[in-house]
Amino acid sequence: MAEDLNIVSGSKEEKYISITAQIKALIDGEPDLTANLANIAAALKEQFGWFWVGFYLLKENASTDNFELVLGPFQGPVACTRIAKGRGVCGTSWATEKTIIVADVEKFPGHIACSSASKSEIVVPLFYNGSVVGVLDVDSEMLDQFDATDKAYLEAIVALIQH
Ligand code: SME
Repeated sequence: MAEDLNIVSGSKEEKYISITAQIKALIDGEPDLTANLANIAAALKEQFGWFWVGFYLLKENASTDNFELVLGPFQGPVACTRIAKGRGVCGTSWATEKTIIVADVEKFPGHIACSSASKSEIVVPLFYNGSVVGVLDVDSEMLDQFDATDKAYLEAIVALIQH
């Protein structure tokens, strides 16, 4: 497909329906995980204008033999590079294997503030063969920006990645 996005206005659901179809077309037939995650982050950022949207992927730390989340493709300001299991919203999503919505990051114990501008957040785990292999993290500069609609559509979008 052409690499131009059609950005729509309207309800949050209308935006997700439009961008999900375009993400499907963008990644269809492309086996490279990095390329697909990069385009998903860019498409979501362009449609929604969020402060930060991107991926952290599980990788083994050679010096500790532990797996940790390492920064992957993203759109937005520079961010923390490594997050341990159970730490912050991302590490908690990995540990619990669940999507986490945080209406006010200052009220989330252990929240990792990569930027003080971030006020609310949603983190969605990525699964492969039943195990968490990474997370999608979306941050907003406004409080209380994420709800069950974001959870449903973002979970469906990350499920498109079959690597
Ligand atoms: N706030 C996240 C860390 C990642 S950055 O916000 C991009 C957390 O608490 O896990």
